Amino acid sequence: KPRVSLDLAGIAESLKSGAIKSVYVLTGAGASTGAGIPDFRSPGGMYDSLRPELITATKAERKRMRRDPINVVMKDMFFQNQFPYLEVRRPFILGTQQQQWKATLSHWFMRFLEEEALLKRVFTQNIDGLDYQTGISKELVTNVHGSLARVSCEGCGEEMPFDDFCAKVRTNVKDIYKTDPSAPAESSNINCPRCNRPLVKPNTVLFGSSLPTEFFEQTADLEQADLLIVAGTSLVVSPANAVVQMVPRDCVRLIVNKETVGQDLGIQYGKGATRDVWAGEISCDEAFLELIKLLGWQDKVRKIRHL
Ligand code: OAD
Repeated sequence: KPRVSLDLAGIAESLKSGAIKSVYVLTGAGASTGAGIPDFRSPGGMYDSLRPELITATKAERKRMRRDPINVVMKDMFFQNQFPYLEVRRPFILGTQQQQWKATLSHWFMRFLEEEALLKRVFTQNIDGLDYQTGISKELVTNVHGSLARVSCEGCGEEMPFDDFCAKVRTNVKDIYKTDPSAPAESSNINCPRCNRPLVKPNTVLFGSSLPTEFFEQTADLEQADLLIVAGTSLVVSPANAVVQMVPRDCVRLIVNKETVGQDLGIQYGKGATRDVWAGEISCDEAFLELIKLLGWQDKVRKIRHL
């Protein structure tokens, strides 16, 4: 494969010349913070701002969440007590229903890649569904950690319409962040209409559950990648983070993240880098805007501004 100059300009040049034809993308919560959705691990993110003392839980459960906030999205915790997940996720679930958040330039960049027949697939760890707002082909998006769009019983699989579920979240689940004056003071169960257990939730993957089978099927294509863009993810959660190791050895990896990540997975920064490029300490939207300029795709941005 032709060598690519290891900077944003070099990547843009190779995309224009056809030296890079197959682009794959792995996104994480940092791709949506520009839309106003907090990520997980940054200061002010979901884990950092978690307040176990406000959650409907036993002392032991609170201790567990204090020890590691990830327990909020653990499968065994959810089977034991649904409120940590439902109460913490309440604003996110209801905000999604109200389409409170809009796709960012980072999401649009994926769509632009598709328009240019360069995009092979987006693996997104995000459950917010913002990718779809750009009209990107659904077949090109893998929801690695599931999505909020569908709701089902974690026990028996029975589905519940999203709007029915949201109505129950609004009236049954207390707002621990106290942003909604109409929220109930106490949380009560949302039971499955089939098995009657209180295990109804959006189809997002809990820690301790397996990933959707599509993930394992669709990562097989990664061996064709010329360029992997890794955007807004700390790369600490497996097996999603293994995507960076599934591309060929000569595949260029562009890290779009305001901090360096993935060194333990073999991503190289600075002089030693042989195929990895870091966009630098800038936001995802800034980095993709920079690429858009280098690619001469400003017209595409003008078009979406009219939407
Ligand atoms: P994290 O919160 O772990 O990481 C987000 C990364 O994006 C961090 O490295 C931030 O520095 C960076 N970041 C944040 N905002 C940014 C911006 N505007 N521009 C550039 N970089 C930015 O989120 P994920 O990696 O997505 O899983 O987390 C992975 C998984 O852990 C999630 O899917 C979720 C979570 O627990 C489950 O719940 C199963």
